Amino acid sequence: MKLPTIFIACDTTSTKKINQIIKFTQIPKIKFGYKFGLEFLNSRDGRKFVSHLKNKITFGDYKLADIPNTCASAIRAVKDLNFNYITIHISSGYNALKAAKKVSGKTKLVGVTILTSLDNKSLREIGFNKEVKRLVLHQAKLAAKAKLDAIVCSPQEIKIVKKIFKKEIITPGIRLSGDSKGDQKRVMTPKQAFQNGATGIVMGRSLTSNIKKNIQKLIRELN
Ligand code: C5P
Repeated sequence: MKLPTIFIACDTTSTKKINQIIKFTQIPKIKFGYKFGLEFLNSRDGRKFVSHLKNKITFGDYKLADIPNTCASAIRAVKDLNFNYITIHISSGYNALKAAKKVSGKTKLVGVTILTSLDNKSLREIGFNKEVKRLVLHQAKLAAKAKLDAIVCSPQEIKIVKKIFKKEIITPGIRLSGDSKGDQKRVMTPKQAFQNGATGIVMGRSLTSNIKKNIQKLIRELN
């Protein structure tokens, strides 16, 4: 069986903290990837740090949400970083997804569905009248049509997404048991997410608040 991946959300501006995260995740039998998002990539040393990373699975969480030309140009602009994964919001629309896919090359293009920090009430607030599960399913169909390589959704939607999207399914909104949700709404534990069929999970604060200690907790929970 293909090993699932645990992507650590490196949400910090400190390269020292990221080096620590890397140090404590050199564990045989678990496949780790490193996810860099808006905070790190926009920090003073972020881009340079990523450009020097060798032999790591890297995930550029740019969450592009723009017109087709801008999305495609942004992907071209970070080509030199050789990310394994780059994200784009599916709500950017079919033409933007296609334009991005056309230039993404070896980098896997990941479609982000409804953020895990939103629930049905928040969707109504921003003017959507479908509920989360139906909207995610709808977006997964668009991602399949645009031939994206992976989807980001909450672990609560994996089962329905799996029916129509046959490639990688990566789920944020992951908490070690007993941890608080914080700003996330649709969460599960790592074990539950993998049992539901996630091919990869994203974990931030539940691990990075104390990487050394929490990695051990993660290993215990996965066994
Ligand atoms: O700390 P926590 O585990 O909640 O972090 C989740 C990470 O996943 C953050 O970096 C966030 O930007 C990202 N993410 C998310 N929900 C999505 C897509 C990405 O939480 N739908």
